Amino acid sequence: MNDDAGLDRRTLLRGLAGVGLGLGIGAGVGAGATSIALRPETPGAADTAAPGADTGSEAARPGGRRVEPHGPHQAGVTRPPTPQQHCLLAVFDAERTDQVADLCDTIGRAVDELLAGASGELPDGPGNLTVTVGIGPRLVGAVDPALPGADDLPAFVGDVGLPQGTTGGDLMIQLCASDPGVLEPALEHVTAQVVDLRPRWRQRGFRGPGEGFVVRNPLGFHDGIAVPRTEAEQAENVWIADGPLAGGSVCVVRRLRLDAAAFRGEPVDRQEEIVGRRRDGVPLSGGTVDDEVRLQAKAPDGQLLVPPRSHARAAHPSFTDSRLMLRRGYAFDNGTTSGRDGDPVPDAGLLFICFQADLRTFSATQHRLDEIDDLMQYVTPTASGTFLVLPGSRDGAGLGGALRAGA
Ligand code: HEM
Repeated sequence: MNDDAGLDRRTLLRGLAGVGLGLGIGAGVGAGATSIALRPETPGAADTAAPGADTGSEAARPGGRRVEPHGPHQAGVTRPPTPQQHCLLAVFDAERTDQVADLCDTIGRAVDELLAGASGELPDGPGNLTVTVGIGPRLVGAVDPALPGADDLPAFVGDVGLPQGTTGGDLMIQLCASDPGVLEPALEHVTAQVVDLRPRWRQRGFRGPGEGFVVRNPLGFHDGIAVPRTEAEQAENVWIADGPLAGGSVCVVRRLRLDAAAFRGEPVDRQEEIVGRRRDGVPLSGGTVDDEVRLQAKAPDGQLLVPPRSHARAAHPSFTDSRLMLRRGYAFDNGTTSGRDGDPVPDAGLLFICFQADLRTFSATQHRLDEIDDLMQYVTPTASGTFLVLPGSRDGAGLGGALRAGA
């Protein structure tokens, strides 16, 4: 697809989201349909919270304010609107593939108990702890192979050396909180209710302070700028729209070790060429940090301003005819590991976590990054998986309720 066609695709996508649902994108749009409301404070960001949810700053009190766990969507994806600074993501294998809905109900009840403070594990209360539950393709397929989430990730170029035991998995539990001390006991409480789980892999993550999804990533660049922010954009791009799993989402997790020293060793203008945006977030095609990259913009000498092999161009949804994923990752640092020559190298980088209505959004994008993205030379995947994030539990149906409806 050429650049112009690509731009049309995305403009159309966003235009439809705004017009079709008639929700408050307009105030932040400014320059018409080609511009997306990117500011964290955009009206509509707060709308992503369920009734009763806290939308205020997590710094407002130690441990942060309670985040509503129930509603059409699970917490930990679009609420709170500023992701908490600490994360523990754990993946398990299940002994059995029958009674998947019961398994999810049990976990959902354990989460409710924990957040209600009934379990006693969190003496200072849960604060803004969110627990997001996803199930892997094997369990989804056991319920119904036609359901979203039943397909596994395809193999990507960098996956050849992935350590055994760090791909796939049956159950993902993502815990996020301002207080890192609550994550471990919370996970223990939730998993203690289920007898037949075997730990597969896990990772702790952290993010700098920020407002909204934008945060500086381990390479020192603003990350989380071009993501669906308003409720209308999230309905269009993040949530499964219909069927029994409406309100759920397809999550992809990739632990990406980064050679940050090599990246930082490049001159800043080369770093910016690799990313396609300046370090302050402004696209190389100009404008402000709030603007999306203009793919067809050229310098007087005819060179594309957003370079052909830059990450922002390679990842742009228009080239893959896909939607816009919600990227909500965390940095990680596991100390050192053995490098190619046996010397210690940092085992640190980005715990990339994204949510979309359709797995294809991720896989088509990653295939394109494998082909054309200069950023990928600094990346080594060390864990990978996809998980169906169930819709939120509501009306007393339990977390597994959606799977019963689909069975
Ligand atoms: C090595 C790890 C990665 C780093 C450090 C990184 C960093 C960034 C940065 C700095 C931006 C520009 C700012 C923004 O729009 O948020 C960006 C944009 C983006 N990235 Fe990544 N990214 C990484 C991996 C990935 C992966 C694995 C994917 C998906 C397969 C991805 C998808 C995207 C998308 C869709 C955009 C927005 C492009 C647009 O529409 O302008 N990124 N990333």
